Amino acid sequence: MKSSSKWGNDVVNDKLKDVRLSVIDERIRDVKNVIAVSSGKGGVGKSLVASALSLSLARRGYGVGLFDLDLTSPSTHIILDVKDAQPIEDRGIVPPKIHGISYMSITYYSRDKPTPLRGRDFSNALIELMAITRWGTLDFLIIDMPPGISDATLDIIGLIKRSKFLIITTPSKLAFETVKKLIKLLSDLHIEIIGIIENMKIKESDFIKVNADKLGVKYLGEVNFDENLEDALGDVDKFSNTEFFKRIDGIVEELLKALAFEAQ
Ligand SMILES: Nc1ncnc2c1ncn2[C@@H]1O[C@H](COP(=O)(O)OP(=O)(O)O)[C@@H](O)[C@H]1O
Ligand SMILES: [Mg+2]
Repeated sequence: MKSSSKWGNDVVNDKLKDVRLSVIDERIRDVKNVIAVSSGKGGVGKSLVASALSLSLARRGYGVGLFDLDLTSPSTHIILDVKDAQPIEDRGIVPPKIHGISYMSITYYSRDKPTPLRGRDFSNALIELMAITRWGTLDFLIIDMPPGISDATLDIIGLIKRSKFLIITTPSKLAFETVKKLIKLLSDLHIEIIGIIENMKIKESDFIKVNADKLGVKYLGEVNFDENLEDALGDVDKFSNTEFFKRIDGIVEELLKALAFEAQ
């Protein structure tokens, strides 16, 4: 049995949570498309794709935000070389612009310290970050998601019901097996799936395309393994000239079509 005072605290916490939940809707009211870059497992290229996608859309003249919500392993700040930027406090937090992208990450606060959050604390940190961030008017808010169908993923799905999912997989059966579960979950929850990108391809195979078709999910395209990518991380000019970036830039055309959003 919980003590009455502890129970009382929980009621207060739940009320506070409710207030923040309604604030989250308000914070993304003027965002046209929320795209969650997701996967069945880690290490498949979500952060790379989310970063390249954000840069590509921003260069096309769209209003773009990038929200790094992989709170335990944030990495987009390294890819985009976010060093000295700081969010501005103004009735919440206004994300600074990095390479034309409104950029928000827990690393503004945690720096390079680990963020070992569990269960309820994790949900609280997530809700807090979502509730304080003022995105303003955007065409696209790209979310770099935590991997798989963890608590964190379920929290984000519940908190931002308008998210449309872009799924990243490698050519491996092992990665696709986990993707199938994610697709099943999203379908059961009636959440829109924009399509699948097959990343780090090293040889011809139609395994992912055939299986995406079977599941009725659009195959947006493949991206080859790019051995020059590692050297380009943290240098946005170099990154924009990689085969990886060029390929994602091409897939953006497909994505805009899939979203029926007029290319500029
Ligand atoms: N197409 C690619 N070619 C070469 N390396 C890649 C490619 N895509 C991703 N990587 C590398 O794979 C690793 C995992 O990528 P990352 O974006 O961090 O994955 P995730 O966010 O899904 O965990 C990184 O070291 C990244 O540089
Ligand atoms: Mg990542």
